Amino acid sequence: MSIDFHTLSQKYGTPLYIYDFDKMAENYRAFKEAFSGQKSLISYAVKANSNLSVIQHFGTLGAGADCVSIGEVRRALTAGIERYKIIFSGVGKQDHEIEEALNEEILMLNLESEAEMKRVELVARALGKPARISIRINPNVDPKTHPYISTGLHENKFGVEISMAKRMYIYAKNSEFLEPVGIHFHIGSQLTDLAPIAEAAQIVADLVRSLKAIGVEIKFFDAGGGVGIRYAEETLIDPLAYAEAIAEATKGLDLTLMCELGRALTGDAGYLLSSVLYEKQNGDKRFVIVDAAMNDLLRPTLYGAHHRITFLGQVGQETSQERNKADIVGPICESGDWLAKEVALPQTRHNDLIVIEDAGAYGFTMSSNYNTRGRAAEVVVSQNSERVIRQRESFEDQIRLEKAYLHV
Ligand code: LLP
Repeated sequence: MSIDFHTLSQKYGTPLYIYDFDKMAENYRAFKEAFSGQKSLISYAVKANSNLSVIQHFGTLGAGADCVSIGEVRRALTAGIERYKIIFSGVGKQDHEIEEALNEEILMLNLESEAEMKRVELVARALGKPARISIRINPNVDPKTHPYISTGLHENKFGVEISMAKRMYIYAKNSEFLEPVGIHFHIGSQLTDLAPIAEAAQIVADLVRSLKAIGVEIKFFDAGGGVGIRYAEETLIDPLAYAEAIAEATKGLDLTLMCELGRALTGDAGYLLSSVLYEKQNGDKRFVIVDAAMNDLLRPTLYGAHHRITFLGQVGQETSQERNKADIVGPICESGDWLAKEVALPQTRHNDLIVIEDAGAYGFTMSSNYNTRGRAAEVVVSQNSERVIRQRESFEDQIRLEKAYLHV
């Protein structure tokens, strides 16, 4: 679908997040169909893009939800995801979160330590209802991605090692208030090589087999998320090959195969639209200053992430043929406030439009009010509709919870 960015910018202003719902549906279906013939549940990792409409969109397609805080669980429920399709992960769940998740009767709590398991047991006992749990395995496999988004090595805080997991499953099986139904791993994000996922799946499936031998029957096999997208020249993991690798690893076991994808479902379906404010030259260095900034899209400065830039200019105005390198930066008072470096751009003018591509995952959700900048509006486009799914944040929105102590 071609998106009329100029009209959208006139109607809603910039910076503006734009999501293509048709593309999101296409991404979801590619994975759902890849698992056809198996019992499967494709969950949407809410953290990638938590807008209620986005979650609801995946819910209507049949997706479950992978959540990492009780806030995300509430979002999933509010957006209409069926409770038996919601899973709650995270290394630091608090008692009130555990209690609410148990009361909401979600599919399972994914445990990340023995101490947490004891806590969940305690809360479940107090409520008088057993907790369905899974355990996140740390298989010590190197996913070969950016260290900040690598999670499956023992040096990372996530999950538990195999021997500990076994002890935990045996404990849970014998507990009146724990019901071990699932197993889980997630080794990292923006993965472009299937081999580490296949290796982890094999390790975890072997654990399922040895648990079965001692009477612990696992029903849900959750292979996490992490499937990467093409920001630049990356090779992609094919959904079919992905599903096959998981099916192959778990062959002969009676399991519902699950995965919890964030970026692969929303990443390439989102755009951050921004307007040029000024150009400037500091010595040899050319900067194009735009109205989006690191508070809108943190990925470039946090991970050195690359997002392609498409220059759109203005309707009815020619742009110069000559293109020269420039850094695209925002108005924030930090040298780290950049969105793209060394981009070949024509001479720009005030209000020329640029599109920052592949901004549908970890874009808006990681945005902030730094420098008292209101968060961008979010708009959805699809073949037959266009609507605002989050209004632009005003100054009043930002100070709503604050109180000036002295009367002025
Ligand atoms: N499941 C678990 C347990 C996770 O921790 C994550 C992501 C996912 C699923 C979804 O991963 P995905 O399919 O989106 O790769 N802010 C970083 C990404 C952090 C990912 C954290 N966990 C970024 O902008 O690249």
